[in-house]
Amino acid sequence: MAALMERITGTLAGIRNPRTGADVMAAEQVRDIATTVDGKVRLTLLLAPDDDATLVRDVRQAIEALDGVTDVRVDVRDPAQSTPTPARRAPAAPNASMNQPKAPAAGGMGRALPVMDSAPAKAPPKVPEPVAYPHLGRVIAVSSGKGGVGKSTVAVNLAIALAKAGHRVGIMDADIYGPNLPLMLGVDAAPAVRDEKIIPLEAYGIKIISLGFLIEKDQPAIWRGPIVMKIITQFLRDVNWGQLDYFLVDMPPGTGDAQLSLVQATPVHGAVIVTTPQQVAVGDALRGVKMFERTGVPVLGIVENMSWFENPETGKPIAVFGSGGGERLAKECDLPLLGQVPLDPRIQEGGDTGRPIVHAEPESKAAKAIGQVAQRVIERLAARHG
Ligand SMILES: Nc1ncnc2c1ncn2[C@@H]1O[C@H](COP(=O)(O)OP(=O)(O)O)[C@@H](O)[C@H]1O
Ligand SMILES: [Mg+2]
Repeated sequence: MAALMERITGTLAGIRNPRTGADVMAAEQVRDIATTVDGKVRLTLLLAPDDDATLVRDVRQAIEALDGVTDVRVDVRDPAQSTPTPARRAPAAPNASMNQPKAPAAGGMGRALPVMDSAPAKAPPKVPEPVAYPHLGRVIAVSSGKGGVGKSTVAVNLAIALAKAGHRVGIMDADIYGPNLPLMLGVDAAPAVRDEKIIPLEAYGIKIISLGFLIEKDQPAIWRGPIVMKIITQFLRDVNWGQLDYFLVDMPPGTGDAQLSLVQATPVHGAVIVTTPQQVAVGDALRGVKMFERTGVPVLGIVENMSWFENPETGKPIAVFGSGGGERLAKECDLPLLGQVPLDPRIQEGGDTGRPIVHAEPESKAAKAIGQVAQRVIERLAARHG
């Protein structure tokens, strides 16, 4: 079998960049290929802002498919920020076939390293100016400090409640590590592309885009800071949203890359912070509130989710996860409590079957609570922006 390095460059020469038509080796988009004796591979992929982010996945999968490869790490860098390293640059090798006899790595093509600790020094990333997209209407981030508190549930149902009230609504899944809008909204198809714009999918009167529509399922997430920014920008800029009134962003948990990327990509008109009544969740949510305040995004208020469970026999509320967390957090931050959504098994069922509660059980207490949240969000934004 040909040497691993040779097979890597061979397979990469078969991957075309759809933007330029050239393969990634010929275009010198791949740098610093390093392999270890036990089959670990690391390389740098230069991805220009206009390049398709799926190239990262293609490169990774192609290498993973090679015999003897045990681990693949793709470092993504912006070509504008990367210093050229001509000595190591791999020359175009379109004919490096797997069955060719071993040849010495021509022109210093890649290096076989015993260890993989020679990460190139990174230039400090430049902070982009946020770009306003007036056709999106009011941009609302739905966030929390912690996963599993019901952010996506609230975002989806809030979006549908706003649409039911007669508004034009779009929702973007910024949870690129675990996109779950496709499941929650029961839509999953490759979006069409027309005039170089992605056509969002639609369900329950709202327009939807999710990385889940664009990547294969069960692929390990390898996204890093710069690529998160790229995907968010693409979703804002390259999707044909039409004219909207409200644009909701379902954030991943935490206060990390995605939150920062969003506020750097576009002005955010408001954030809605979701928490459960427990003390720990409230502490995490507080960090979420502070993070938005630090970046100049007005927090519209708190939604407490899973607030209580109605005892089916007595009709009395049971405080499954404690009580008062949302209220305490709202007081502490001097923010309104926009609503309290009860724990309702139909929410979870509806989430798993693509039938959001606001649509499926509009008369339920949960649906009504979210309807109230929608009303307050509209009022809060109108008070700020008219
Ligand atoms: N009020 C609720 N009652 C019952 N189940 C809920 C409620 N809110 C969320 N869930 C369920 O909890 C799980 C996590 O919710 P999700 O919205 O995905 O959270 P997050 O986006 O914060 O990670 C999902 O299975 C969802 O259906
Ligand atoms: Mg979520």
